[in-house]
Amino acid sequence: MTDPVLVVHGLKVDFDTYDGIVKALDGIDVDVGRGETVGLVGETGCGKSVTVNSLVKLIPIPPGRIASGRALLHWPIRCPDCRGKGCARCQGTGTLDVCDACRGDRKCARCRGFGKYRDGKACRTCEATGRCTSCEGSGKRYVDLLQLSPKELQQVRGSAMSFIFQEPMSALNPVIPIAEQISETFYYHQRESLVQSTLAALDQEIARIRGSERGSWRLPILRFYRQLYRRMGEKPNSRFFQFLRRVPLMRRYHRWIAREMRARSLEALKKVRIPSPENVLDAYPYELSGGMMQRVVIAIALAGNPKVLIADEPTTALDVTIQSQILRLMQDLKQDIQTAIVFITHDLAIIAQVCDRVSVMYAGTIAETADARSVFQAPLHPYTRGLIGAIPRPHRDAPRLPEIKGSVPNLITPPGGCRFHPRCKFAKPAVCGSEKPLLVEALPGHRVACHMYNHNGHLWTEAEKKPQVEVVA
Ligand SMILES: Nc1ncnc2c1ncn2[C@@H]1O[C@H](COP(=O)(O)OP(=O)(O)OP(=O)(O)O)[C@@H](O)[C@H]1O
Ligand code: SF4
Ligand SMILES: [Mg+2]
Ligand SMILES: [Zn+2]
Ligand SMILES: [Zn+2]
Ligand SMILES: [Zn+2]
Repeated sequence: MTDPVLVVHGLKVDFDTYDGIVKALDGIDVDVGRGETVGLVGETGCGKSVTVNSLVKLIPIPPGRIASGRALLHWPIRCPDCRGKGCARCQGTGTLDVCDACRGDRKCARCRGFGKYRDGKACRTCEATGRCTSCEGSGKRYVDLLQLSPKELQQVRGSAMSFIFQEPMSALNPVIPIAEQISETFYYHQRESLVQSTLAALDQEIARIRGSERGSWRLPILRFYRQLYRRMGEKPNSRFFQFLRRVPLMRRYHRWIAREMRARSLEALKKVRIPSPENVLDAYPYELSGGMMQRVVIAIALAGNPKVLIADEPTTALDVTIQSQILRLMQDLKQDIQTAIVFITHDLAIIAQVCDRVSVMYAGTIAETADARSVFQAPLHPYTRGLIGAIPRPHRDAPRLPEIKGSVPNLITPPGGCRFHPRCKFAKPAVCGSEKPLLVEALPGHRVACHMYNHNGHLWTEAEKKPQVEVVA
């Protein structure tokens, strides 16, 4: 991928339980490109939610444990020299977007890009590719989410990555009005731009009072507020202003920024096409329907202008008509804001409708990943073939719906080798039961973790390897 915004590589997550260690993820690889919608699909318990939640440590740690892996997020920073105004260091862009490890030359710092050392040994840092691992060879600035401090992660959540969950009611606070819940997101993730607009509004009011003969007693107060907001602009993360919000009389200054936040919240609700948004602003979550609540959750998720939007089964709790409205809304919004979306579902029909690329998960591993069309028309992995074969087709007069035999394995004692081998009708015990298949590119842009398509491929016939559906059932 040329311009990935999120690269997850070899992610392993375990949970320590009284029964043993649940090996929930066993080396997950996922790439998400700019403005792309990637679907994560698989049976229940295969690790879809753990994959995305562990990126920003939303899993409980302990019992959860991130055993290994990298999760690189493209994250240019504001130029510290010019504070975003543009200078020689940032070449007028106001942001710094150069990899700290390779300084932009894209080569592995260990082997200097050769992939091996002078004695001929392969470089283990870059796995002999010679590419810088901190930026995946792009030369741009990426951060490893799994290495960030809790404070840095707080900045990522909501602004760089935001989430839409399955249950809107549990995502919203039932005792706080909607306006306040959306405003908070703006306050914590867009404070700088809020301060700029507030200062502009204050300047306008001061100019208006100067031009008229009435209200001149307000001028010193407004000038004092202007001074406060200028300070806030210089130190947007200062806790002093959050404290000031609670102090009687002093908290009056907050009204100006609150007005700005309310205006933006109203805009956000209009964007998600909520009927009568002015009334919804003052409503409590329990006064709204499921579809309206999910729209509010989407508005909150988009308020921070995220680079990656994670939608974890956002339509599962909704009825079918609302489901299709929400899906259409998400597609329209995606065109407007150019956010990458990771769409989690176990509904293949939704994947076909909204996703550009699909990763099929099975028992904590990625079985297959390719563009959506290829996965549906020419699935390679026996599990994907079975999944697509199991979609009910009303025009066919089948006595029994096709199914994949067996059930998802217990992840405390997962099967060795390929985790799918006890259920796979193509399994060859000699290799499938003992050797873990790695994700390899079987066709251009189509990667699959199955021995049929790697160096063991000669054990299967060409007919068996041919991409097709419904062979497992
Ligand atoms: N806190 C936890 N403690 C122990 N095991 C856990 C915990 N959270 C998740 N798991 C295990 O991790 C595995 C993956 O769970 P996950 O929630 O990611 O599944 P999922 O694919 O999202 O399923 P669904 O479609 O039902 O949401 C499951 O086997 C689950 O038992
Ligand atoms: S590796 Fe073997 S068991 Fe696993 S999916 Fe491929 S053929 Fe089936
Ligand atoms: Mg889940
Ligand atoms: Zn600069
Ligand atoms: Zn680099
Ligand atoms: Zn190297």
